[in-house]
Amino acid sequence: MTSDLLPVPRVAVIVVAAGSGQRLGAGRPKAFVGLDAHTVLRHALLGVFAAPPAQVVVVAPADRVGDALTEARTVAGDRRDLVSVVAGGATRQESVAAGLEAVWPDVDWVLVHDAARALTPPAVFARVIAALESGKDAVLPVLPVVDTVKRVAGDVVSEAVDRSDLAAAQTPQGFRRAVLDAAYAAAAADHTDDAALVQSAGTAVWTVPGDERGFKITTPADLDRARALLGVAPVSAVPAPPRVGIGTDVHAVGGEGELWLAGLQWPGEPALHGHSDGDAVAHAIVDAVLAAAGLGDIGTHFGTDQPEYAGAHAEAFLARTRALVTEAGFAIGNVSVQVQARNPRFAPRRTEAERVLSAALGAPVSVSATTTDGLGFTGTGEGVAAFAVAVVIPR
Ligand code: CTP
Ligand code: MG
Repeated sequence: MTSDLLPVPRVAVIVVAAGSGQRLGAGRPKAFVGLDAHTVLRHALLGVFAAPPAQVVVVAPADRVGDALTEARTVAGDRRDLVSVVAGGATRQESVAAGLEAVWPDVDWVLVHDAARALTPPAVFARVIAALESGKDAVLPVLPVVDTVKRVAGDVVSEAVDRSDLAAAQTPQGFRRAVLDAAYAAAAADHTDDAALVQSAGTAVWTVPGDERGFKITTPADLDRARALLGVAPVSAVPAPPRVGIGTDVHAVGGEGELWLAGLQWPGEPALHGHSDGDAVAHAIVDAVLAAAGLGDIGTHFGTDQPEYAGAHAEAFLARTRALVTEAGFAIGNVSVQVQARNPRFAPRRTEAERVLSAALGAPVSVSATTTDGLGFTGTGEGVAAFAVAVVIPR
């Protein structure tokens, strides 16, 4: 199995990575969640391979054995012969048992390590191995408990616990191989870690100092902590990208009074038909901005059942739209709107329209206009169409 160049190691590290990561809730097994460019498992293996040489057995979810093998071989480089991957079980203890089956016969000491303790420094491995070599049968890295600890019954404190004789257990936990094999062979109950199992079988467990960086990634806050240690900006600090929206509107010629279009009154031009003033340009802008913010469309907020918008002009629509998107947490970047109409002639008042619409919306609005060479309803002058695109920026 092993390469000719490498002596058969006396140490094996079982990296248990077969859990589903329910508490993390990342939608995939915890070991395969990305920390930076690399997964939790990759980071755990980087620590393992930076520690004294060992056979490495990765225990992965049954449907991730191939992925785990790729990760492990990549990290192992020219030590890839030392690596194997087996499928885990329903509990951590079953997963460790599956890993133990794959440990080579010549191995004297077995370390069991949680992949979820992805940032454990190699020095912790070295300390555990040194303690085993000094003759200890079972070795546990621990951290002092810094919080004041209470025993509680429901939501009532039943007693204070003296923390001076408490320690927080970490991994890798190291064992003389025969001791661990025997404890697993005799295991009657499920234990949360291997030190507890071995101790229940009557073996004394010795401690060595653990390391703050060996914390177990369990919850989303732990994931943020691990990413911060790696210098990755927390997801919430990464600015959300701008969002784009589109809106169109059409109104037929044939309303009462004078034309209102692009926020301007056009004396002498025939009015457009509509519940409000029929300003297709303003309405297309409203739809685009609301769509960009994911707030529905003009009908959602300015229904015909709202009498205050009967006969209302662009200013009222745009000011209300601005308030809606601001409330929803967006700033408006800009809007570009194009009107297709035979009449009125826009060129002389284009910049005036931009000024009025921009002031009402509180963001730059560019207006362009075109005719359609006599084609279609805008070409014959039966109606007016407008097309708008808006960008909003999440704050
Ligand atoms: N583990 C395992 N097999 C299991 C359960 C857990 O190999 N059936 C491993 C996990 O992959 C992890 C370590 O044991 O590296 C510690 O377990 P834990 O932090 O509880 O991980 P999960 O069980 O994946 O998480 P959760 O309990 O939130 O579902
Ligand atoms: Mg678990």
